[in-house]
Amino acid sequence: MSSKDKITIIPEVLRYTQNDSFFTLTEKSEIGVSSEALIEKGNLFKGYLTTATGFPLSVSVNSNRDISLVLEGKEKTDHNGFVDERYTIEVIETQCIIKSATVEGIARAIQTFRQLLPVEIFSEKQESAAKWTIPCCSIEDIPRFKWRGMHLDVCRHFMKKEDVLKFIDLIALYKYNRFHFHLTEDQGWRIEIKKYPKLTEIGGYRDSTLIGHSNDQPKKYDDKEHGGFYTQEEIKEIVAFAAEREIVIIPEIDMPGHMQAAISAYPELGCTNASLKPLCHWGISQHILNVEDTTVSFMKDVLDEVMELFPGQYIHIGGDEAPKYEWEEEKRIQDRMIELSVNSYDELQSWFIKQIASHIQSKERKVIGWDEILEGGLAEGAAVMSWQGEEGGLKAANLGHDVVMTPRLYVYFDNYQGDKESEPLAIGGFTPLEKVYEYEPVPKEMPEDQHRLVMGSQGQLWTEYMPDFNHVEYMMFPRTCALSEVLWTEKFKKNYSNFLEKMENHNRILDFLKVNRRK
Ligand code: ACM
Repeated sequence: MSSKDKITIIPEVLRYTQNDSFFTLTEKSEIGVSSEALIEKGNLFKGYLTTATGFPLSVSVNSNRDISLVLEGKEKTDHNGFVDERYTIEVIETQCIIKSATVEGIARAIQTFRQLLPVEIFSEKQESAAKWTIPCCSIEDIPRFKWRGMHLDVCRHFMKKEDVLKFIDLIALYKYNRFHFHLTEDQGWRIEIKKYPKLTEIGGYRDSTLIGHSNDQPKKYDDKEHGGFYTQEEIKEIVAFAAEREIVIIPEIDMPGHMQAAISAYPELGCTNASLKPLCHWGISQHILNVEDTTVSFMKDVLDEVMELFPGQYIHIGGDEAPKYEWEEEKRIQDRMIELSVNSYDELQSWFIKQIASHIQSKERKVIGWDEILEGGLAEGAAVMSWQGEEGGLKAANLGHDVVMTPRLYVYFDNYQGDKESEPLAIGGFTPLEKVYEYEPVPKEMPEDQHRLVMGSQGQLWTEYMPDFNHVEYMMFPRTCALSEVLWTEKFKKNYSNFLEKMENHNRILDFLKVNRRK
């Protein structure tokens, strides 16, 4: 065996036994799949294995090849669209058999299998004749949580399509299954909407970008235009790439706050007559959508196009940090409140969110929002992403709603991961690797009968202080590896020092994959 004699799978698997023999992948090896439904996974698998080996590795429908992917049992989906991702891998000297009841389980197993091979499998083509051996072993594995997410803000800094694809492939390696794609912001609108082209024509570009931290005074700007957006064709490509890896994308259209770019493009969405442009610095814009029926309809139109592009169950409607100053100042908002019999600004926000939520639900989709959607009354059936702390999640679960725990102290990867003095500029906070590893998504205070409502957790990558994807990678890794064990691995199997030992091999893997990890 070339470079490792101990398996170093991240996230840690449930059960693993091995003996002293090996299976060897050779240029004669063939991949078999049990049915047509797995051909795409077979080809993905082949793609992962051929780069370094150069082996042809044919893929065909046949359950008895050197490496076989077998779909067995019955695929079941729960009421939120989640499936059983458990799988097994049996490796004997002459054959490797990967089994799951679901295509998703097969996709997770493929990522485990890659990690059973010498780490050089992640490199570009090897000139030296490396020996591609796998220890004979037996693996049984199952995820702890069904929502294992990573979030990426492509608004504060635009990330080109190729970067988004690399991001998806990297999170797939660590068995994440949800990509929360933050597509709209005060500082930029990043998704083409055919009915409203100015959202990207005007909202997709800002004149300038803040230099330094948003607390610095006086503020300095770079005076360079920044922007970009994804065409619907590009979005389809991203969705298909994620689907190959069995990653579901949750698109976020953040409202009624964080909408300055949209209001710049379509001033009729705003509360005042002020002429706006996409915001050039960080922090929360004071501008917010108005609550006219025409504005609600506009957002429904946007969501209709979004739902057409993203087939996943959940649509994220934001709801965070919506400042109410303009609602308080504007007479037409007060009049509207009387018309709607709404008694407070929180209730007004709740009214707005409920209009949007019921539209999404009428299309057989599910709604999720940041924990502020609790204020003024939570929309029926909406799931809550608890970011300000654990309170929002506790409150929502207590009301019987599903929750995703994303408390900013633990899983905000825009926070510093080391000593501020020696790290590149970040938003603030302190979330080092061990703090991520030790995070427990089920709050201690939560009554046991509500634990099932914790769908999982996810890492957040807000990009105010990440000017490019290289820097995103720096903030992601190694913390994304640590979070993967929080999300996937049963508590009794987690062990931080073992994780750190395994990271030695994973650092090599990340280097082969040209990831700018924090060292
Ligand atoms: C958030 O961090 N504003 C959800």
